[in-house]
Amino acid sequence: MGLPGSGKSAVGRRIAQRHHATFIDLDELIERRVGRPVPAIFAAEGEAGFRRYEREAVLSLGPADPDPELRRVISTGGGTIIDPRNRWLLYRNRFPVWLDGAPEVLAHRLGRSANVRPLVAGHDPVGMLRQLAEARRRFYAPALQISGMVDVGSIVRTLDEQLADGPAKAVTVLRADTAIGRVEIGQGIAASAVSGALRRLEARRAILIAEPKTWKVAGEGLAAALAADGWPVERILLPRGENAKRLSVIETACRELARLRVDRKETLVAIGGGALTDSAGFVAAVYLRGVQVIQVPTTLVGQIDAALGGKTAVDIPEGKNLVGAFHQPAAFVADTAFLATLPDRQLRGALGEVVKMAVLGDERLLELIEESGEAIARGDESVHESGALLEVVERCAWAKVEIVSADERESGLRMSLNLGHTIGHGIEAAAGYGAILHGEAVAYGLRAAFAMAAALGLTSPARAARVNSLLDRLELASDPPAVSIEAVREHMTRDKKHGLGRLSWVLPTEVGVEVRTDVPPEVVELGLATALRLESALYVESGRQAEVRPQ
Ligand SMILES: NC(=O)c1ccc[n+]([C@@H]2O[C@H](COP(=O)([O-])OP(=O)(O)OC[C@H]3O[C@@H](n4cnc5c(N)ncnc54)[C@H](O)[C@@H]3O)[C@@H](O)[C@H]2O)c1
Repeated sequence: MGLPGSGKSAVGRRIAQRHHATFIDLDELIERRVGRPVPAIFAAEGEAGFRRYEREAVLSLGPADPDPELRRVISTGGGTIIDPRNRWLLYRNRFPVWLDGAPEVLAHRLGRSANVRPLVAGHDPVGMLRQLAEARRRFYAPALQISGMVDVGSIVRTLDEQLADGPAKAVTVLRADTAIGRVEIGQGIAASAVSGALRRLEARRAILIAEPKTWKVAGEGLAAALAADGWPVERILLPRGENAKRLSVIETACRELARLRVDRKETLVAIGGGALTDSAGFVAAVYLRGVQVIQVPTTLVGQIDAALGGKTAVDIPEGKNLVGAFHQPAAFVADTAFLATLPDRQLRGALGEVVKMAVLGDERLLELIEESGEAIARGDESVHESGALLEVVERCAWAKVEIVSADERESGLRMSLNLGHTIGHGIEAAAGYGAILHGEAVAYGLRAAFAMAAALGLTSPARAARVNSLLDRLELASDPPAVSIEAVREHMTRDKKHGLGRLSWVLPTEVGVEVRTDVPPEVVELGLATALRLESALYVESGRQAEVRPQ
């Protein structure tokens, strides 16, 4: 893989020859299958059309064959790896190699080549290549990075040495150094990613913080792999679930760190669900006024949301998350293999947040959940095998990275993440925390937000119906929650997100969201009635015209 002009075909051919493997040039394969050259496909059907053929061509390759006699060397198109589905198919059980090169040199090479590269031709080639490099770096980065700027012979010799190890079992689909820490996403990657992060941070030991359940399903194996990799391992256990988020637990954990003589330069590794990563993240934020933390979330909520973004907190009797700090992790490692043991209710609940992320403006994610959401909610093995679960995690986590990087302290853009949360939080609090999962509460909030947005003419009844029917199929927010409308109202007005006596409402449009502070009381009432599944609101939700008119 690599940008146009990086030498993929030349290197690929030579490697294939030396290893008696079949060489496949993906662009040539597409041209043969479609019966037209690549530039003609771009001209007739645009980039989207080309990407469709490309996806079919990748699918036609099938999985990697373990038989050495059937080895293949595949030279991909420069942008093949943008699609997470292609990355899953191409990186899994294969040996991805990234031929890297300076845009200036690549542009010079392309200028001399007879091949037309549609994404670069006719533009400022160096500028275009820089843009492509920036946009694709995180997708190439999981691969072995080799400079394509030297002669083919040296590249081939370097590769020969590396290929001897064979493909890794772990599949990393994304690696990025971001403003909010290194982000690594994949399947089976925890040990190698954590070990790599500790090395990068110049750690002298691995200090793992987990709770009894996550220690059993994730920590123990990770500790063994780190020990085998030469790391001395320390373990600290916090209580399970929300019980980890107590100030007394922070004190105990800090005292344990002091007993282990953990110093300012050391790094903690937090392994668990959102409760554990919130609590361990807070420990990292306050112990010695801040030490580094690697977040290793083991729940879907943790991987798509909680362990990313640097919000850490504990609860006090007066309310949840009232004491905390912003503390960005040095690394975030989402390994979907850990989700295999997660109870169905946890998976299903998290999908409330996933639907929210889709509604924020990711149409592909919406389709993906329409296709695979029910299987994910059931904990089906197939969603690990197909890469669907990994794609969900990547899409949600990356969207959060982009939003939070642009707005770390929640002054503007990050507000959009509160879609479905105003009423959702009200219901969660009224039910008593723990009775309803956060994602389940968000699903109620989403139904409310769509009813309100449809009433205000921000979104169409058809879009509202599409999201409601998806929530129906996922069995989210279907039954009335066991709370009174008065209790929800009361909690909402206590909600920390309302400013100057006016609630800010994040409401869906056809393609994203809008923040409104001028929502009339009767529309808020419609939202509440919808969320609580009251008869009057269900009538509106079923697609008949909203009774409430925009003002
Ligand atoms: N910081 C943020 O930005 C943010 C965002 C969203 C949520 N949160 C917080 O996250 C918490 C909720 O997180 P959660 O939904 O992950 O719940 P959780 O952390 O309470 O974990 C849920 C349960 O799953 C178990 N578990 C964890 N991983 C498992 C695995 N791989 N296999 C089997 N069981 C496993 C845990 O032991 C626990 O019993 C809340 O406290 C919430 O406030 C924080």
